[in-house]
Amino acid sequence: MSATTRTRTPRPRRYLMCRPSHFDVTYAINPWMDPAKPVDTGLAVAQWESLRDLYLSLGHTVECIEPVAGLPDMVYAANGATVIDGKVLGARFRNAERAAEGPAYLDWFREQGFTEVHDPAHINEGEGDFLVTGRYVLAGHGYRSSRDGHAEAQEFFGRPVIGLELTDPAYYHLDTALAVLDDDEVMYNPAAFAPGSRAVLERLFPDAVLATPRDAAVFGLNAVSDGYHVVLPEAATGLAGQLRARGFQPIGAGLTELLKGGGSVKCCTLELRGPR
Ligand code: ARG
Repeated sequence: MSATTRTRTPRPRRYLMCRPSHFDVTYAINPWMDPAKPVDTGLAVAQWESLRDLYLSLGHTVECIEPVAGLPDMVYAANGATVIDGKVLGARFRNAERAAEGPAYLDWFREQGFTEVHDPAHINEGEGDFLVTGRYVLAGHGYRSSRDGHAEAQEFFGRPVIGLELTDPAYYHLDTALAVLDDDEVMYNPAAFAPGSRAVLERLFPDAVLATPRDAAVFGLNAVSDGYHVVLPEAATGLAGQLRARGFQPIGAGLTELLKGGGSVKCCTLELRGPR
């Protein structure tokens, strides 16, 4: 069936989020961050609450991890782990500023009773760089997660991990350049990938939605799909139109304060995938 005529069915999801109570930009580890620019933490919290409420209104479950003072980037829960079939691969961060988030997230999973929890030996920044399709784990490298981290994920999950090289520092995590829409459908920004990786994406997803540079630059690919609703930054109006034409329901979210840290919808959302 072609992507345009397919019937779309939302599947209820379970997400982990972290309230941005301590959000700030005090260091710069990606080109979006400028510590000289003021941050309105109250506004960040209000925008984050609207995103959480939106997920709840769509019928999803939202769990919350307690934010830790001194870890301003902890709001980007996508980086905290990768969870597939109830198995938890912890994160190990590239930058010292975020290192303590790894154990903080691991503790949460252990406290919640997850039993298969793996403390990683190699650098991986969770769902920032690991995106799960029906068959594969798509895995970014070039800025944050390492190739050894990819191999570790493949061994732990027993799923083929497809390495994709990112080449534009503005799109430093895979989830800033690509989003999974359904088991076998994705949207991405071709300009963010090395030529060979772009060819791999064309081979695996010949029908993919391709983002314009303008939609990519407003973080339009930092999106969360439940198979029907696609929550994405509201400024990505071109992408919203492309999604609507394929039978998805795009829903714009306003997360402008969190963009100052280099993150948006997907960065704030970690999917907890149980056994299916
Ligand atoms: N300031 C954070 C960093 O540079 C933003 C992380 C955004 N998260 C994401 N999943 N892309 O690490």
